[in-house]
Amino acid sequence: MLKENVVESLLGETSDKKKSRTPARLDFLQSASGLFLAVFMILHMLFVSTILISKDFMLSVTKAFELSFIFEGGSSVPVFIAISIVSAIFIFHAFLAMRKFPISYRQYLRLKTNSNLMNHGDTKLWIIQVITGFALFFLGSIHLYTMLTNPGNIGPYASSDRVFSDLMWPLYIVLLIAVEFHGSIGLYRLSVKWGWFEGEDSKVSRKKLKKVKIILTVVMLTLGIMTLLAYMKIGYDHQDNYGERYMHPTEVSHAN
Ligand code: HEM
Repeated sequence: MLKENVVESLLGETSDKKKSRTPARLDFLQSASGLFLAVFMILHMLFVSTILISKDFMLSVTKAFELSFIFEGGSSVPVFIAISIVSAIFIFHAFLAMRKFPISYRQYLRLKTNSNLMNHGDTKLWIIQVITGFALFFLGSIHLYTMLTNPGNIGPYASSDRVFSDLMWPLYIVLLIAVEFHGSIGLYRLSVKWGWFEGEDSKVSRKKLKKVKIILTVVMLTLGIMTLLAYMKIGYDHQDNYGERYMHPTEVSHAN
């Protein structure tokens, strides 16, 4: 909390804070939306990485999101609704975060000098979060817009064609790195800020949380890179049949 205040006072925010309760409410909403997005990103990685198990398994997960147990063959409407909700929370979170950006180059330099002088580990993490957050705003928006306009085009071949033939992989590499650093630093900062998992000695707790943060980043990045490579390989093998959709073996036998 103290370090947070140092950062905020450098940005000249403390006097406003005393006047109104709104910043505290906005802070809470920023934390809540950030927590939602971080949990969503962990689940998102688990769903997307099902391609590492098999094409059939990834197709089954896609069909479950399309509520194929209710609508024959699945519907893209529930997927579209889910993407809309996530997009709205994504924009809301980014909008709230903009308050904390250093708005002038002079403010940035003051912050940078301060973080170097004090060797402030947590202030450095905050700067990484601002930079990755800035990248996410653009790259995440492109991905979400692509998904919003293609809710029915998710699947083993549809996704792999997009990753390889539609050249989304360069964007996904940068997006993946930015989101994994941003998400794990965000979860660490949330835990420190709200005192979750705080034991007797707060220094020891912080050290443990930092270790968990590093493990989370490494695990998610490794899984993400393996997943991306799997989509690229399938997309590469499938490029001559671009546009063809993957079908479950039972669907193929029905079709024949
Ligand atoms: C409900 C919203 C979302 C849906 C339905 C969705 C769906 C998908 C799908 C199906 C893929 C596989 C590749 C493809 O089909 O193009 C993918 C990849 C990816 N998505 Fe999302 N996504 C959503 C939100 C997000 C958000 C908010 C982010 C981060 C800001 C994100 C980051 C990524 C990354 C980094 C990859 C590459 C995966 C990897 O390298 O392992 N996605 N997404």
